[in-house]
Amino acid sequence: MTTSNTRTAEHPIDRQFLERWSPRAFTQDTIPESALQTFLEAARWAPSSYNSQPWRFVYARRGTEHWTRFLGFLNEFNRGWAQHAAAILIVLSKRTFAPPGATDAVALASHSFDTGAAWGYLALQASLSGWKAHGLAGIERDHIRAELAIPEDYAIEAAVAIGRAGDKASLLEALQKRETPSPRQPLSSFAAEGQFVF
Ligand SMILES: Cc1cc2nc3c(=O)[nH]c(=O)nc-3n(C[C@H](O)[C@H](O)[C@H](O)COP(=O)(O)O)c2cc1C
Repeated sequence: MTTSNTRTAEHPIDRQFLERWSPRAFTQDTIPESALQTFLEAARWAPSSYNSQPWRFVYARRGTEHWTRFLGFLNEFNRGWAQHAAAILIVLSKRTFAPPGATDAVALASHSFDTGAAWGYLALQASLSGWKAHGLAGIERDHIRAELAIPEDYAIEAAVAIGRAGDKASLLEALQKRETPSPRQPLSSFAAEGQFVF
């Protein structure tokens, strides 16, 4: 059994999987471009169908000219706490690809699945590097598509706020109660051998 922070795994795993979690309290640190490049480099090595690498990341760092515009891509609730983060990434995926030897693009069924793997790698690398990455589905998709001129061939998957974990006292009281690594359903609730039993 592996234990870390408030979490205990049912089976032996590397502690990094328990130590990654998604805080909402961030210090107001800025992040060096080199740190962000390291997290994106980890994402780069994710597996994907046909090695098509459909993930795309468009980002802004606190303290740059892009920051306020990217904060505006989040819904009001998320903007409330993510304004203290150091970077906001918009995660996109390309819905089509040209198979090996073909010139015409066809639909890539796994574009979201592959991009999910890439975000997972990025989040783990951020955690290993002493930062935290928090996924965000609460975003203004139409606004993002228009403002960043995202072609229809690309899905807007989510956003990610990255920062250094901060003092939970900086959050609204309701959020302070939730500011702790969350538990998980038992493994038997999502994996079964031989038949679908859920
Ligand atoms: C794709 C995705 C979307 C999420 N959207 C939001 C969000 O809009 N707002 C928020 O506060 N947390 C959001 N979360 C964070 C999840 O609630 C969190 O990952 C989950 O409760 C598990 O907790 P942990 O990441 O600390 O292990 C999102 C996470 C993911 C992966």
